[in-house]
Amino acid sequence: MSSAIPPLEKKVIGIAILGCIAHLGLISYAAFRLGIAVPGCVTNVRPFTQGQVIAQSPKRYEVHLLTKMWAFEPATIRVPVGSTVDFYVTSLDVTHGVFVDRTNVNLMSIPNVVNYARARFKKPGRYPVLCHEYCGTGHQAMYGVVEVTDN
Ligand code: CUA
Repeated sequence: MSSAIPPLEKKVIGIAILGCIAHLGLISYAAFRLGIAVPGCVTNVRPFTQGQVIAQSPKRYEVHLLTKMWAFEPATIRVPVGSTVDFYVTSLDVTHGVFVDRTNVNLMSIPNVVNYARARFKKPGRYPVLCHEYCGTGHQAMYGVVEVTDN
């Protein structure tokens, strides 16, 4: 009885190890190079019933984005280019979705739960905010925008 590893099994183990290394490399690239962070649950912001934009400094903003049938509150968010924006989202009624185009903000908006994601706006322009969870007959009307200004 031989204890040597069969050649085919060695190849499979090698491919699996290479796959793990490639996977870790891609995760590291996404996290450190692209700045993509996995959304998390937040316990220090309680569910809110009014949307608002809070300026913490000229380039730091906290957005309390409220979803409701069938609108975002606030619908328009204005920040200067180069801003870092912390999005906290919750819902007044049913489950909605929050997707901010060309960012990593892609969250579920759930009643009595606050979800969170951070985005940095490096280029000026209009970044549409869309609901990506079917939430009723007015779902397609849910539209907002982040306006990133040049100054
Ligand atoms: Cu809100 Cu779809």
